Amino acid sequence: MERPRITIFDTTLRDGEQSPGCSMNVQEKLRLAQQLDRLGVDVIEAGFPIASDGDFEAVQSIAASLRRPIIAGLARACTGDVDRAWQALQGAARPRIHVFLATSDIHLKYKLRITREKCLEQARDAVRHAKSLCPDVEFSPEDATRTDVAFLCQVVEAAIAAGATTVNIPDTVGYSMPEEYGNLIRTLREKVAGIDKVTISTHCHNDLGLAVANSLAGVQAGARQVECAINGIGERAGNASLEEIVMAMRVRPDRYPYETAIAGEHLYPSSQMLAEITRVPVQPNKAIIGRNAFAHEAGIHQDGMLKNPLTYEIMTPQSVGVPDSRLVLGKHSGRHALALRCEQLGHQFERRELDEIYRRFVVLADRIKKVQDSHLLELIQDVASGNVSSSDVTGSKGKRFPPAAATLQFPRAVSAAAGANASDSHPAQVSGSAGQASVSIPFTDHHSEQEDYLWGV
Ligand code: KIV
Ligand code: ZN
Repeated sequence: MERPRITIFDTTLRDGEQSPGCSMNVQEKLRLAQQLDRLGVDVIEAGFPIASDGDFEAVQSIAASLRRPIIAGLARACTGDVDRAWQALQGAARPRIHVFLATSDIHLKYKLRITREKCLEQARDAVRHAKSLCPDVEFSPEDATRTDVAFLCQVVEAAIAAGATTVNIPDTVGYSMPEEYGNLIRTLREKVAGIDKVTISTHCHNDLGLAVANSLAGVQAGARQVECAINGIGERAGNASLEEIVMAMRVRPDRYPYETAIAGEHLYPSSQMLAEITRVPVQPNKAIIGRNAFAHEAGIHQDGMLKNPLTYEIMTPQSVGVPDSRLVLGKHSGRHALALRCEQLGHQFERRELDEIYRRFVVLADRIKKVQDSHLLELIQDVASGNVSSSDVTGSKGKRFPPAAATLQFPRAVSAAAGANASDSHPAQVSGSAGQASVSIPFTDHHSEQEDYLWGV
């Protein structure tokens, strides 16, 4: 059976850019937009043209240079904003005007100081005006999840009647729970006239860490567009993370039988490019694209990984564009991973030799947090030069250990984390852990007989 196709609406350049420290200039936005195009997103929200001349210019240049994706410009529900957005979108092959207006009583009373009646009229007028300029119009009732449901239905219905082709239901303050958000989408589908003719979209913020869960619940309830951002950046605690949503659907099609057009191998490069441009690093334990997402330090895990990566990985690093898994050598590591790393550095040991190296390694790892390859090589050299409890210090092939100088010629690409090179922009570059001794698992051996996505395919 064919799986429903989910439209990926990327708002990294608009909502994402609104997060502190993430602003980008026109050139940077254009460069990232080109990467989003390679990634395969369906819609790029390029900016908020009325907000500044820079934002206007960014939307204009992205609209002029990318032909495949829809390019959206944000506008408040008023003529001036809509006209400015339309002006910026003039060069676009596939323009979209995205009109928004808050609908919750809190926003109407304290922020906009308007009545519900006025809100309804303003939404209808703005959508109608946008529609007179552009066939593709999206409407968002801001703070939808804290809006009286009957009133929300009324506004959404009015927006559809005025010509909206997508209705987006923002959980603006990240307040909703997954079941609740799913039910809201279901209620709208049941109660709003004309809703079956338009695309329903999710837009979930992460204030309670539920943005991705809420978005997925929305999709299960019938939403067919998801608004999200690379690295989950966005206002306050951020927006739903694009990479997490896409990979949740890929790894668990038994639960989420939906398709997207995302090219998985561009997820990690996109994340790295954003981190490089904004200089906002990715948290190490971030799902999918964090430095530790495919790193294993515990001896038991490393042993399992070396026997079969299925034991501790539910997707291959390559499926998201990460060069390789890493077995990080630290105090929790075991003999198996240590032996492999020594081998990759050109040294093979017999059991007793390895025991000695391992004993010293554990003492060292207990003292310093990160054992670098250079430490490991020094340790091997030390043992080789006779400073060892075991009298036999020859390698398993009967050779003496090579001198440290020779061994240290191993290029960083081999000896450092995951065999990354500069152009790969491995997460180590952003997180500053390059050089820590780690074992890369060769791609050819890795999951060689497995599907990219290990469960549910
Ligand atoms: O969070 C929000 O409500 C928004 C709207 C402008 C869609 O970003
Ligand atoms: Zn938002």
